Amino acid sequence: MKLFIDTGSVAEVEEIAAWGILSGATTNPSLLAKEEGSPGDAIRRICELVDGPTSAEVTAEDTRGMVEQGRALRTLHEHIVVKVPFSTAGLAATKELSADGHPVNMTLVFSANQALYSAEAGATYISCFMGRLDDVSIDSAEVVAEIVDVIRGDGSYDYGEKAQILAASLRHPEHLKTAARLGCEVATVPGKVLRQAIEHPLTTAGTEKFTADWESRPELAEWMSGLTSSAQVAGR
Ligand code: E4P
Repeated sequence: MKLFIDTGSVAEVEEIAAWGILSGATTNPSLLAKEEGSPGDAIRRICELVDGPTSAEVTAEDTRGMVEQGRALRTLHEHIVVKVPFSTAGLAATKELSADGHPVNMTLVFSANQALYSAEAGATYISCFMGRLDDVSIDSAEVVAEIVDVIRGDGSYDYGEKAQILAASLRHPEHLKTAARLGCEVATVPGKVLRQAIEHPLTTAGTEKFTADWESRPELAEWMSGLTSSAQVAGR
């Protein structure tokens, strides 16, 4: 499963892109509204940092407006994916944009039938919002499993490689793991959850013990330093 970062913050993407685990990013109007400065500059910089698909959302509510905004957003950077909210207008806009070769992320998908419609309209990504489903006591894992079944099916109904299931609205590391186990192609993850998923007390304890044991023999540190210098001199 590919990992995208779900944020409007350039600073957060700068920090986390350096870990080497990100393949893309998603933004939305709420996330961008929290940040100072031009949304266009932020979106462009995020595209450069993640060097992969970066969703930027239309705000129009009618098909024509969505298509116009989608085309305009695509001029910001080659990595832009047009994010379109699920609705009948959104489906029509997705059909038009995708037919013109613009990748679309259909967002605010909460059911298998909505996912099916999104795929039929030509969406490249179908964003199922796990956290918001759990917030209203609907089991997000069950819905994601249904979406995976409906989109992948028994293989006889072929969307090709086009429709990718994207787990969104992730609130904790359990959502991330569930999305991967259920077969989502992508999860878009807030910085907070990406940081939480790194932590394990046994990793911390293990690192501390390795360091303490190594430092108990100062000559070992000297050996490592000598080895590093020789390798650098040899150009390795
Ligand atoms: C996805 O692309 C959305 O931007 C995002 O995951 C929404 O998450 P929220 O429900 O935490 O706002």
